[in-house]
Amino acid sequence: MNIILLGPPGAGKGTQARTLVEERGMIQLSTGDMLREAKDSGTEMGKRVADVMARGELVTDEIVIGLIREKLEGENGGGFIFDGFPRTLAQADALDALMAETGQTLDAVIELSVEDDALVARITGRSTCANCGEVYHDVTKPIPADGKCTNCGGTEFKRRADDNEDALKNRLMEYYKKTSPLLGFYYAKDMLKRVDGLAPMAEVKASIAAILD
Ligand code: AP5
Ligand code: ZN
Repeated sequence: MNIILLGPPGAGKGTQARTLVEERGMIQLSTGDMLREAKDSGTEMGKRVADVMARGELVTDEIVIGLIREKLEGENGGGFIFDGFPRTLAQADALDALMAETGQTLDAVIELSVEDDALVARITGRSTCANCGEVYHDVTKPIPADGKCTNCGGTEFKRRADDNEDALKNRLMEYYKKTSPLLGFYYAKDMLKRVDGLAPMAEVKASIAAILD
């Protein structure tokens, strides 16, 4: 099964995608993670996108479509989870074409809906394990008292350069201007499923499982 997780910054896309990878062997394709990796490893493309990402604006369609194209030709495992892609109608059209070219189909688009007020608290409280990428939150999923990652035992945690209120406002604006039209697009294709992303993580996970099974 190939699915899209769609929702504003902080909706919980990455958190739920990691669970699906662990429990179902699906493959997470997060364009945000791919871009951060390019930035951290200092590639030319990484250098070009760093400032745009730090401001919370979208990088060009061309760059992210190129990243996804490479992955679709690779191993499909238990299915792809598109996390943070597509984010524009042009990206959605490109994904349709790429799936057709590689003989694959898109099975569902799951919207994680969360109110804007909650997103600010989610984003400003987030940290991730520098070693394995496990996602934590100061209040809802704190780093254990012994300072060790529950997943890998790592002891270094980091916060993202774009997880501040100014960048978040731009990320939200980009979401409403360019990404939210995708909700109508996939609704019209009869593919949109809505999940209450404000519910506790385990409940969100169960709602997604009910759609997949
Ligand atoms: P990206 O990395 O995709 O960031 P985002 O969409 O802003 O999403 P986040 O990763 O911030 O949130 P999430 O929904 O994964 O939430 P999480 O699970 O971490 O993109 C970053 C940038 O890259 C973009 O701004 C753009 O510049 C560029 N980019 C990426 N893709 C692009 C594309 N396709 N086109 C153009 N540009 C692109 O959860 C958040 C927090 O909440 C965590 O602390 C978590 O522990 C907590 N939490 C999660 N679920 C719950 C719950 N149910 N209850 C309580 N707390 C919860
Ligand atoms: Zn870890």
